[in-house]
Amino acid sequence: MNSPFQHEPGAATGPVPPPECPAHGLVASTGPGGLRRLFGPEAEGDPAALYDKLRAEHGTVAPVLMHGDVPAWLVLGHSENLHMTRTPSQFSRDSRRWRALQDGSVAPDHPLAPIFTWQPVCSFAEGATHERLRGAVTDSMARIDTRGVRRHINRYSNRLVNEFCQGGRAELVSQFAERLPMMVMCAIVGMPEDYSERLVEAARDLTRGTETAIASNEFLVGALNRLVERRRAVPADGFATWLVEHPAGLTDKEVVEHLRVVLFVAYETTTNLIANVLRMVLTDPRFRARLSGGHMTVPEAVEQTLWDEPPFTSVLGRWAVGDTELGGQQIKAGDALIVGIAPANTDPVVRPDLKANMEGNRAHLAFSSGPHECPGQDIGRAIADVGVDALLMRLPDLELSVEESELRWVGNFVSRHLVELPARFAPSPQQEVEADPPNSTRRRSDSDWEVSSPAAPRDTTAVPTGHAPAGVRTADPIAAPEESVVVPAQRTGPGRIWRAVARWWNGH
Ligand code: HEM
Repeated sequence: MNSPFQHEPGAATGPVPPPECPAHGLVASTGPGGLRRLFGPEAEGDPAALYDKLRAEHGTVAPVLMHGDVPAWLVLGHSENLHMTRTPSQFSRDSRRWRALQDGSVAPDHPLAPIFTWQPVCSFAEGATHERLRGAVTDSMARIDTRGVRRHINRYSNRLVNEFCQGGRAELVSQFAERLPMMVMCAIVGMPEDYSERLVEAARDLTRGTETAIASNEFLVGALNRLVERRRAVPADGFATWLVEHPAGLTDKEVVEHLRVVLFVAYETTTNLIANVLRMVLTDPRFRARLSGGHMTVPEAVEQTLWDEPPFTSVLGRWAVGDTELGGQQIKAGDALIVGIAPANTDPVVRPDLKANMEGNRAHLAFSSGPHECPGQDIGRAIADVGVDALLMRLPDLELSVEESELRWVGNFVSRHLVELPARFAPSPQQEVEADPPNSTRRRSDSDWEVSSPAAPRDTTAVPTGHAPAGVRTADPIAAPEESVVVPAQRTGPGRIWRAVARWWNGH
């Protein structure tokens, strides 16, 4: 079969209007060569319908067009995705292999550049380099005190609930789902708690797509540089120190880059997961009835969400090392392939009945598979499990305060975000938040990550709202006293790559 990618990317259509432009609504669902687009109102409005069409037309691996009509293969089949992600000798994570990048037909400021531009981090590495970098990350994660982290999650969740419980109303995306993961990640990484709010602001800044994205990135890199410098000089318990001290001998730049990846991947995915779990719990009668009846645990609701609404809907991607075949399609060396997480999770071969409960089945691809499979999945699951559990224990009568049909999403084929989740409940008093035992560095055991069912008793003992828990090093600041940790104010300036980050994050 000839390659279906016969056109020059972008040549036939010119630039595609961004979503806020009225012309975006006019973007056709197909582009050059009759190939379906993964962007535009139709694809973004109903991705599941698009996957069905692609399956019917092409089978388990479909030629598609990404933004700018850049061609790629979307892998829809569950077993084809498994094969691809588990065979790095044929399908590499190294984006420098992309023919379209090499011949210049994909511009460096393409809207998806922030996710495909090669960086010296484990996500883009293969072979021995990948083993070295990922080994440092996973060994350091293995040193995390999992019980301590679960206590942090519970305490932070209760503290967030304290901020809105007396009012009887909350917007759960901005007041809970977005804030909890960064609070926990700061504690894990060993950043002062003060930074968490500012990092969330920085991440939100990116989602708003403003020029301040550049300044926010500078703020983050500056903070991480100071943290790494400090941890080289004065080691302390925490992920940053363990990376610095790891026998793989990471340079300071490598440590900073990996901390940045970990913070942002964790923030982006876990925020989505919490928001999606809460949306399901509040709108799906199966979950509501079963949760209140005590039959379904929060971890089961989380697992069902990982099947139905995975936080990353796709991953771009893999690049073909040589000419090969996948799902009956002839893949050429240097072609781009997209790990189709959402379509694999709904592949009729593994899920003939989408309404069926997936209880006990963890074969979804929300964390991908193979050598790049997410190393932080236990942490992501724990934040969602313990956080949602704590929220529902405090506000058992929580319900949506708008019609389900009013909920809106933004995003692209890589990740979709719920914009808002307005909820109401009977006003309740603030509760005191339990004090934290000192950090320990003992090794984790798998059972430590498990959370109780919502029916389990809760212990919320007294510490006033807003108290810094012991064990989180607020007294060990990484910033010099005279330094401001405030997210920089708006700046103007070019910064093409960061404008592209902002556009991508904003779903353009
Ligand atoms: C529910 C939450 C999460 C989801 C759904 C998720 C999902 C993913 C996915 C799909 C990948 C890409 C794998 C591939 O390229 O095939 C990934 C990679 C990665 N994730 Fe996660 N993630 C989550 C939470 C976290 C957390 C909390 C951390 C850190 C504490 C983390 C750290 C990483 C890292 C370092 C990689 C790159 C691994 C490599 O390339 O070897 N993730 N994640």
